[in-house]
Amino acid sequence: MASAPGAERRHIVVGVGGGIAAYKVCSVIRHFTEAGHDVRVIPTRSALRFVGAATFEALSGNPVTTEVFDNVDEVAHVALGRQADLVVIAPATADLMARAVAGRADDLLTATLLTAHCPVLFVPAMHTEMWEHPATVANVAVLRSRGATVLTPASGRLTGADTGAGRLPEPTEIGLLSDLLLARPDALVRDLAGVRVLISAGGTREALDPVRYLGNHSSGKQGYALARVAAQRGAEVTLVSGAVSQPGEPAAVDVVHIDSARELSEEMTARAPAADVVIMAAAVADFRPVGVAGAKIKKGDAGPAPIELTTNPDILAGLVRARAAGEIPARTIIVGFAAETGDADGGVLDHGRAKLRRKGCDLLVVNAVGEGRAFGTDDNTGWILTAAGTETGVPYGSKTLMASRILDEVAASVPDRQD
Ligand code: PMT
Repeated sequence: MASAPGAERRHIVVGVGGGIAAYKVCSVIRHFTEAGHDVRVIPTRSALRFVGAATFEALSGNPVTTEVFDNVDEVAHVALGRQADLVVIAPATADLMARAVAGRADDLLTATLLTAHCPVLFVPAMHTEMWEHPATVANVAVLRSRGATVLTPASGRLTGADTGAGRLPEPTEIGLLSDLLLARPDALVRDLAGVRVLISAGGTREALDPVRYLGNHSSGKQGYALARVAAQRGAEVTLVSGAVSQPGEPAAVDVVHIDSARELSEEMTARAPAADVVIMAAAVADFRPVGVAGAKIKKGDAGPAPIELTTNPDILAGLVRARAAGEIPARTIIVGFAAETGDADGGVLDHGRAKLRRKGCDLLVVNAVGEGRAFGTDDNTGWILTAAGTETGVPYGSKTLMASRILDEVAASVPDRQD
């Protein structure tokens, strides 16, 4: 398959451990092949009890083997590891991670791990007891200390009727975070461990009647990307989500759902005092209808009645005021976004600079919108402005990559604010 336009064809090893979540990895393999990458799937013997080699061969377009002693002339355990640009292990079972920590080489996958020099992403999936067992906790710490990325799993339904931490993150999320590591191998270092991050995302909806609302085109992708990357950098993340078009919730993130700007305002105001960092990525309606009709508004003969609007609270400016009043700790970092089109009075960046002064936040991410930009797209670009006067351009790239750049600025500010 040809590479997607503009994308570089990379060599990706997908190592599959013996867990029920192995079937979900088929979608991850498809994600990589559709991007034009060369994918080699290396299952463990146990993985093949869940998904057959034929499925992996059909999806990857490459032969599949579990053993070091197959096709010995190709010295596969050395060749595959050496040429890989990324190794993704999913599901990473407790046993597979323990074997990786011990440096075992008793199958093709563990042998490949010993020869790989590229970023390695472990995506754990197991029962909560196994994930929380001191042996697994220690093994995860060792893998991270050696430079591997070990994702924090999602919480939710496990194999049986039980729920808890240990669920494989959604395949879409594994794909997004893998792409991030391909673009930036150090993007998921755990430099936000223990930092409490509160993020708003998506669009607000202002009701007109029981079936209609005023809304906007925010998909939530940028805000969800921030939540996803912050959580995997170790932060304790709460995401207050308006209307979004997202396939699922980010792993290891507490998600609170709201509809209107006033609901968002209530949640952000109540939660901000317990946060170290507040990021307002939501697209908030500046206005709402004065009243909400109790019954569906009828067409009538006189044509549409005008909609009378009133102003919504400016949540970001309110949070900055609350911090000045001591209701939010002075060390809390407040990050705003600016969605700008530019006009006769100035360009996108001019309006961003003025907004930073007006809102009084510490960081402002300026993105150009309109003409199909930023709203709803997978990619984004812009500038990060700081109250200290620095301006950093963020090159065009995925919203996940942009999130990682924004969080770099946040991480650099966090120690300045410690009590
Ligand atoms: O969701 P996506 O499809 O991925 O798109 C991402 C995005 C374009 C929505 C996002 O990157 C973005 O720019 N979000 C902010 C959009 C916006 O509302 O911009 P604004 O210039 O109108 O507002 C400036 C800041 O004030 C924002 O941080 C906003 O959250 C906040 N605000 C705005 C109005 C209001 N009443 N209260 C607020 O707190």
